[in-house]
Amino acid sequence: MNKIINILKEKKSIPLDQFINISLYDKKFGYYMKKNPFGRDGDFITSPLVSNLFGEMLAVWCVAFWEKMGKPKKILLVELGPGDGTLCKDLLQTFKQFKNFYDSLEIQLLEISSKLKNIQKIKISSKKVRWIKKIDQINYGPIIFLANEFFDALPVKQLYKKKKIFFEKHVVLSSDKKKLEFLYKKADNSLIKSIRNLNLTSSNGIIEYPIEALKFLKIISKKINKFDGGLLTFDYGYKMKKNQNTLQSIRKHKFSNVLFKPGHSDITSLINFVLFHKILNKNNLDVKKITTQNEFLKKIGILERANILSKKMTFKEKANMFYRLKRLIDPKEMGNLFKVIFAKKKGKDFSLGF
Ligand SMILES: C[S@@+](CC[C@H](N)C(=O)[O-])C[C@H]1O[C@@H](n2cnc3c(N)ncnc32)[C@H](O)[C@@H]1O
Repeated sequence: MNKIINILKEKKSIPLDQFINISLYDKKFGYYMKKNPFGRDGDFITSPLVSNLFGEMLAVWCVAFWEKMGKPKKILLVELGPGDGTLCKDLLQTFKQFKNFYDSLEIQLLEISSKLKNIQKIKISSKKVRWIKKIDQINYGPIIFLANEFFDALPVKQLYKKKKIFFEKHVVLSSDKKKLEFLYKKADNSLIKSIRNLNLTSSNGIIEYPIEALKFLKIISKKINKFDGGLLTFDYGYKMKKNQNTLQSIRKHKFSNVLFKPGHSDITSLINFVLFHKILNKNNLDVKKITTQNEFLKKIGILERANILSKKMTFKEKANMFYRLKRLIDPKEMGNLFKVIFAKKKGKDFSLGF
């Protein structure tokens, strides 16, 4: 908090995306930079931590995609924001059962947090895996980009449109200099131009602009077009919502105030999947329809896999596995809240899971 207060004493105000960036990723103060936020004792839980069936099914999907690409001798898997490394660990375990794929494979992990990188290094001890600092470093392919809850953790801007005038959301100090508050300031022309280009401005109200996510999508698309491959991403998100504020903060598995105790809670926003679809299309990729985690996992056979596994399990193990499976796919839990999008280089068709 002190860090942000000091910045605000000097700068008076910072745009929302900068506030999120400091709160989550400042080297000393940022939420992701100083703790392991995952799991029951942390603040939230993600699909790979709910059940290793998630990683297992994604691994099978990757192998099928590689086969469709003609079993290239080298295949690069890039995981964006690997968290505590659970997904990568589960993927590797399954990949080992597909020898030709495994022999062709290298994995690169893109992780901003040194704290999490250390946790990942302990969990994943494999010569197949290395860590990269910047996405630009990727220089061969084909590449399979995998992302689970990566894009929703990236800073967004918010604007407000009223009577044809655009305002940008900033964070300022309250008059007693003890609390943080939001303040709308007239938006720059360049920012207005960007959101107009994205066609985000149709009616009055809040406009969310996922500025960092769109930068990533641009680079990812370039790499896929150059080296072949695709991007498979899972995230909290929506298909229809317009002009709504989806910014939220989570602490100890409960919603909290975004401006309260920055650096101590996770801040996310929902993904506008229609916008993602449009941008990936515009970047010349072949984009499949947006589906839900429930549909995707069921189409690639998660129920059949669970039934096979259950045959060798004790009653207690079975109950545990199906309880976790339900969390992953139940429409009232992660099944519908999470959407899946897949974009690939144009050419051979591959639509497993969609
Ligand atoms: C919500 S967590 C998801 C973790 C993991 N994928 C999972 O499903 O458990 C977001 C992850 O993205 C990382 N991250 C956020 N911004 C990043 C960036 N610009 N570059 C690399 N990693 C980033 C975070 O440090 C964290 O590991």
